[in-house]
Amino acid sequence: MSLDDKKEIENLRREIRRHDVLYYVEDQPEITDREYDRLLQKLIDREKEHSDEIPADSPTQRVGGKVSERFTGVAHKAAMLSLDNTYNLDEFRDFHNRVVKGLNKGKPEENQVAENDIEYVVELKIDGLGVTLTYENGLFVQGATRGDGRTGEDITANLRTIRSIPLNIPMEKEDFNFLEVRGEVYLDRTAFLKINEERKAGGQPEFANPRNAAAGSLRLLDPAITARRPLDIFVYSVGFMDHMPFKTHYEAMQKLKSLGLRINPRTVLCRNFEETFALIESWREKKQTLSYDVDGLVVKVNALGYQEKLGSTARHPRWAVAYKYEAEQVVTEVEDIICQVGRTGSITPVAVLRSVLVSGSTVSRATLHNEDEIKRKDVRVGDTVVIEKAGEVIPKVVRVANEAGKSRGQPFKMPQKCPECETKIFRPEGEVAWRCVNAACPAQVKERLLHFASRRAMDIDHLGPAVLDQLVDGGNVQHFSDLYTLKAEDLVELERLAEKSARNLIDSIEKSKSAGLTRVLHALGIRHVGQRAAAILAQKFHSMNELQEASFEDLEQVDEIGPIMAESLRAFLGQEANQQEIQRLAELGVVLIEECKEIGNRLRGKQFVLTGTLKDFSRDQAKEKILSLGGRVTSSVSSKTDYVVAGADPGSKRDKAEKLEVEILTEGQFKRLLAE
Ligand code: IVH
Repeated sequence: MSLDDKKEIENLRREIRRHDVLYYVEDQPEITDREYDRLLQKLIDREKEHSDEIPADSPTQRVGGKVSERFTGVAHKAAMLSLDNTYNLDEFRDFHNRVVKGLNKGKPEENQVAENDIEYVVELKIDGLGVTLTYENGLFVQGATRGDGRTGEDITANLRTIRSIPLNIPMEKEDFNFLEVRGEVYLDRTAFLKINEERKAGGQPEFANPRNAAAGSLRLLDPAITARRPLDIFVYSVGFMDHMPFKTHYEAMQKLKSLGLRINPRTVLCRNFEETFALIESWREKKQTLSYDVDGLVVKVNALGYQEKLGSTARHPRWAVAYKYEAEQVVTEVEDIICQVGRTGSITPVAVLRSVLVSGSTVSRATLHNEDEIKRKDVRVGDTVVIEKAGEVIPKVVRVANEAGKSRGQPFKMPQKCPECETKIFRPEGEVAWRCVNAACPAQVKERLLHFASRRAMDIDHLGPAVLDQLVDGGNVQHFSDLYTLKAEDLVELERLAEKSARNLIDSIEKSKSAGLTRVLHALGIRHVGQRAAAILAQKFHSMNELQEASFEDLEQVDEIGPIMAESLRAFLGQEANQQEIQRLAELGVVLIEECKEIGNRLRGKQFVLTGTLKDFSRDQAKEKILSLGGRVTSSVSSKTDYVVAGADPGSKRDKAEKLEVEILTEGQFKRLLAE
């Protein structure tokens, strides 16, 4: 193989691996599935020319995905393959032709399967996370993620929190004792929007789409948090059985349904290719009306005997294919290319566009991801470009589409300095992003302060972006501690801030001093230390002093605190500037101990329903109290409810509680329970 070929192939492998990590590990894909497929196909083609030199770790040699080290591994009984994609009638017809050819291979003329005699089942391709559910003698014994297709992660505890997964199924009358089914766990759009709203209010990064939110929720280490996310599942196939009594996939699905597993009601059996394609077309627009995201359809050969005969390649079954609708693309012009600075200092180039309507929303900016991407696409100011938007994915520039002969601007060059603070920026080895390392960079400072003040952190009311901009730009505030030295006089000078609001702001800042160690730890914005970790640390160490003295080993030994978090904490607390800042916060009266030591445990596993009006709490406050002690709040009463808290004018929930003999608490009893 020539040196150039070798280089090209290696580059392709590196690029695909990077996208694998973005997709499977970080849940932050940068490219569409179609683009990924193109890259992979290119690699497959190149490797074919040198087929004796394909290393076992080439992306073409594996099923896809990566197993995280946080959960116990589970070896799948049969590999969980992924699906090959088709995007139009021609590609879909090619798939069908391959099926016909595969089935007729080696068969005499008179026994050949007629092209129009193959039944297909058409299903929605739910955009969530693939899982397996194993039932032994009717009992749900294990659930796992797909992982790399051969080994997944044991997430049984988290899956048990999903209401639509039966913990028992009536298998006693069946002639099988072992059943492993596969399905997709997902979040519907309303639930996704709600979670993001909460994350935004809590200063946490929002999920890019429902799939990421579902994946994130399912792979949490604490099932109690998973339980609060309204995840759901559709089961779409049998993975493994000790005795397979079915002739067709459709029949198997009907059986699973009768056993109480949730099958998507839009699953349709088509008699032939024509019917199948007509059905596919009918979903193109209709899929928007569903309450959950689908990223296309799945078409499966119905007869299990045919499936067996067709078999699979290393990556895909030959008897099934995904049909995807391409993301909508439109043409517009690049008016400018700017660079944005994030909270951690990463610098992202963004194309400012002439506004256009794509997939129902107006787009005037599109991400260019990073320097390598801009170079690869050679996007310049003034260029005509194709942009696309797929579902919830951030709009992106696909390619330049200038008319022939159009004169062009200069190639884009990354700035050498941070666009906000003019510090020289640098690109760490092996990373794609340039970074501004100036911790005092106003863009970063503002983002950090916004997080510090957010509701789930120090909960400082009236400190929004407009006020913060002025405080930072005017030099009044740079560090968190500077907030605590602000005086009403400093604020009256700010634009658009009435005297009363200034007063309120000062009061909120004052009040936040007693927020407690959990909130402070969360507010400091230490990498990898979110709200839950902050609560665990505060509960364990009780004071900032003790935490500062903890070694890496002390930290790592704490339940749920892994090496990455421990490392990040040590790095943060070890920096002199941070130590000084903590010292200053203490001197200014910010409480750095945790008063409530038992946080998170006392009501663990207890399920509450609130009804009627409480005197001393709003619904949200009551709910927050329960959650902070480890309990759960649901909206309807069932046999699983432990307590119904009934305020004045309770509704039908109280009656239902009586009927089900669930304990009913008055407000007084509820308060005593909290204070116990
Ligand atoms: S069948 C070997 N059916 O899509 C066939 N998959 O790219 C395996 N998915 O990992 C999959 N809805 O998580 C199948 N109705 C459906 C599906 C579905 C969503 C996911 C699944 C799989 C991925 C395949």
